[in-house]
Amino acid sequence: MAAQLIKGTEVAKAIREELKKEVERLKEKYGVVPGLVTILVGENPASQSYVRAKQQTAHELGFYSVQEDRPADISEADLLKLIDQYNKDPKIHGILVQLPLPKHINETQVLYAIDPSKDVDAFHPFNVGKLMIGEPDYLPCTPAGIQELLIRTGVETSGAEVVVIGRSNIVGKPIAVMLMQKGKGANATVTVCHTRTKDVVSHTKRADILIVAAGVAEYVKGDWIKPGAVVIDVGVNEVGRTADGKRILKGDVAFDEAKEVASAITPVPGGVGPMTITMLMKNTVRACKVHNNIKD
Ligand SMILES: NC(=O)c1ccc[n+]([C@@H]2O[C@H](COP(=O)([O-])OP(=O)(O)OC[C@H]3O[C@@H](n4cnc5c(N)ncnc54)[C@H](OP(=O)(O)O)[C@@H]3O)[C@@H](O)[C@H]2O)c1
Repeated sequence: MAAQLIKGTEVAKAIREELKKEVERLKEKYGVVPGLVTILVGENPASQSYVRAKQQTAHELGFYSVQEDRPADISEADLLKLIDQYNKDPKIHGILVQLPLPKHINETQVLYAIDPSKDVDAFHPFNVGKLMIGEPDYLPCTPAGIQELLIRTGVETSGAEVVVIGRSNIVGKPIAVMLMQKGKGANATVTVCHTRTKDVVSHTKRADILIVAAGVAEYVKGDWIKPGAVVIDVGVNEVGRTADGKRILKGDVAFDEAKEVASAITPVPGGVGPMTITMLMKNTVRACKVHNNIKD
């Protein structure tokens, strides 16, 4: 039997509607507008398209949004100065520096320079630490999107065996930490696999919830999955182009096989991807409320 499709596009749309209403309420009741700056260094086409999508969504939600483009040869000192300018700008509540940065810039230094209260990507060590102790102000966007998809699809995480493939700071590690915490959409028993894991399949086969963020197209096969498992495919891999130049994307899971075994699965595209930007917007609304001491 084919699995239920977990439609990230639809869930993301519903959350954006909620956020839009919240932005209107903040405007009317408190006279404040969430402000987001996105900083793009260089001309990487994928980064350009991600930033464009973030700006467009911010605009649609009624944010005050600013786009800062800088050439690839900007000095680290000048980039840090730009971040400091927005750290001090009261109209801006969220600062996003699009990664990756050119090699001559120390990415860690740049992420450390963002005021943690404006760190809507939640990559600053202060926010990573707060996540670890179960007291996050901001959740990292892709893991937050995954958790929200699980909650809104009615997937029971409490007591579930979760297997995560991937241990990056952006996806694998934070989603593992979030799902093992005490609380709603969590309380799971989590195993994390990576390239040094001896027998990945022995782990995937016992997962009630399998989260794959390896960056390898169609890596997980249908017979690696426990019948009835929920599969969250985070991977976005370009495997070619159509005749008219459009990117052909595949996830990290062999979808056609997996959907015959799983009880529910996210498609690629249209699964986790649309949730990531939506969670960035949610963090920015939260940052606006924190900065204006709004508690309701
Ligand atoms: N939809 C979205 O919004 C979104 C957001 C972020 C990322 N992504 C996508 O998600 C994927 C992962 O992203 P990332 O940033 O986490 O990637 P990453 O930094 O490259 O990390 C990949 C992780 O997967 C592990 N891995 C790679 N090949 C493996 C294998 N054969 N067996 C077991 N583990 C393996 C690596 O292990 P080691 O640590 O041992 O090297 C690493 O921990 C990419 O396709 C990316 O494009 C999507």
